[in-house]
Amino acid sequence: MEDRVMTEKTKYSGKVLVAGATGRTGKWVVSRLQHYGVPVRVLTRSAEKAKTLGDVEIVEGRIQSDEDVAKAVSGCAGVISALGSSEVFGDASPGEVDRDGVMRLVDQAAKAGVKHFGLVSSMAVTKWYHPLNLFAGVLSKKFEAEEHLRGLFGKEGRSYTIVRPGGLKDGGPLLHDLHVDQGDRLWSGWINRGDVAELLVVSLWTDKAKNKTFEVVNEGEEEHAQKSLEGYYDKLAS
Ligand SMILES: NC(=O)c1ccc[n+]([C@@H]2O[C@H](COP(=O)([O-])OP(=O)(O)OC[C@H]3O[C@@H](n4cnc5c(N)ncnc54)[C@H](OP(=O)(O)O)[C@@H]3O)[C@@H](O)[C@H]2O)c1
Repeated sequence: MEDRVMTEKTKYSGKVLVAGATGRTGKWVVSRLQHYGVPVRVLTRSAEKAKTLGDVEIVEGRIQSDEDVAKAVSGCAGVISALGSSEVFGDASPGEVDRDGVMRLVDQAAKAGVKHFGLVSSMAVTKWYHPLNLFAGVLSKKFEAEEHLRGLFGKEGRSYTIVRPGGLKDGGPLLHDLHVDQGDRLWSGWINRGDVAELLVVSLWTDKAKNKTFEVVNEGEEEHAQKSLEGYYDKLAS
């Protein structure tokens, strides 16, 4: 991980809660927020694990607990969720994390006055027949959470951005041309976790990112340095 130091200032003011911050994409979200000098709070099941994230405020808690989640979102202007399930049954299952956990976060964030909610979802969430859905209906569960987010944050002065990445690779941001699409029409492709993080972080202050749901993958294999990803939001329909 790099870029822990603030290297660029933005006009964004307000604290951002990152859920799933100890995960492989969540770490990049934290790192990119720190890059832009945005204060970060994380909700984690393990404060010990979160110590590696550098200068962040830590709330230890479970995504299953209304009380823990309410405490985590309190006083935050934005929320970014990089939560992800890892087991078929129990606390880390798609039903508990990708659907109910994200929905709880959305509900508590709206209640607490959070203005913008960014969500890492997935390509193919509308395809119930996709093989990935054999993992406890993970895609359908993610889609239910998306619908809940659109319903609650698409109104009353709130906004959302939902990124549906292709396969995730452990790489940094701003290294590739990206291909964005809408309507869940893509079937393959990869993207660096750093780019997913960057797209969600800049959505906090990019007007054209508000209330958008889109798929994203790398345009090609070769590296091609990018100055900013904000321009990709110009390509999206509302
Ligand atoms: N892998 C892919 O190719 C791919 C493609 C498209 C979309 N996605 C989606 O992208 C997202 C990020 O993926 P990733 O690979 O970066 O995820 P990851 O490394 O597995 O991290 C998932 C995060 O969720 C947290 N989490 C899981 N269960 C939790 C619970 N019950 N309470 C609180 N936190 C919990 C984990 O915390 P702990 O550290 O405490 O476990 C971790 O921080 C996921 O939603 C994934 O489904 C993945």
